[in-house]
Amino acid sequence: MASCNYDGPIILMLSYLHAFHAGNFADVQKHATLYLALTRMQAKASPIACFDTHAGSAVYDLKGERALKTGESDRGIQRLWQNRAGLQSDDWQGFMAELETWNGVIPELRHYPGSPAWMATLSRDQDLVAAFELHSTEGLRLEAWAEGRKLKVRRENGLAGLLHSLPPSAPRLLALMDPSYEIRKDYQEVAETLVKAWRKCRHGVFLIWYPILPDRLHRKLLEALVNSPVTKVLQSELSLVTPPDRGMRGSGMLVVNPPWGLGDRLEAMMAEVGGPEGLNASHRLDWLVPE
Ligand SMILES: C[S@@+](CC[C@H](N)C(=O)[O-])C[C@H]1O[C@@H](n2cnc3c(N)ncnc32)[C@H](O)[C@@H]1O
Repeated sequence: MASCNYDGPIILMLSYLHAFHAGNFADVQKHATLYLALTRMQAKASPIACFDTHAGSAVYDLKGERALKTGESDRGIQRLWQNRAGLQSDDWQGFMAELETWNGVIPELRHYPGSPAWMATLSRDQDLVAAFELHSTEGLRLEAWAEGRKLKVRRENGLAGLLHSLPPSAPRLLALMDPSYEIRKDYQEVAETLVKAWRKCRHGVFLIWYPILPDRLHRKLLEALVNSPVTKVLQSELSLVTPPDRGMRGSGMLVVNPPWGLGDRLEAMMAEVGGPEGLNASHRLDWLVPE
């Protein structure tokens, strides 16, 4: 999950493959937040338009060469899976039940759903799901997985694509923005896109993931939002207790217009898995921008 100083055309720079990182601590935080946002919104019957601006390839093999090379899921979802009997909250029960539908009851997870797969499998008949992916092979894999499923794949720039799709064709909106931040200007572009998208759909629920790296470039994103007209921005940050010398020290999620109850539930979920037998990370939740 490296960040670089390159500011050139993104087509040349799409080297990131999520298969190396799937199921790591940051994915757990991101997908738990996505799970909560969607399931909380579904407390009401009205349709939701779901957008995944940076989708990846949908499902990852945690026993595949790429995942095994980094072993990141061993310090993430695999630990939680192995200790799931001790997880108390209904939300973790629901999250693990979803993983069980992908894997059955086995000692170690093999299949791990990425964000478009979480959206597609959790969506109801009345909900719409669109996923954007620019990387050629990731896009092909995503298309193959989506065939026959309720997921519209768009192999184009997700930030521009989201803006073109707003206001949504359903009464409510859930949008996840999850770039790899390979390119320095991703931070600024995400902030700019969020502000434009929020102007087009002020009641929309927007989820933004960001890495906490030694260069702390995520602060550009946070500052841009604090100085924007966007309000009701909840911030969740996970910080590893023993961070590596290089790479991610933690990760963050921003939730604009969090659905009722999401904050308390997310705090409870993260508190349950923060110990050394879990993610070994501390969690902080607060308003980045209040109402
Ligand atoms: C961090 S990964 C996504 C992981 C996925 N959201 C998940 O949680 O399972 C980021 C993905 O965005 C893709 N990507 C990068 N820039 C993009 C853009 N401007 N529009 C759409 N996809 C992009 C990359 O190829 C990569 O597959």
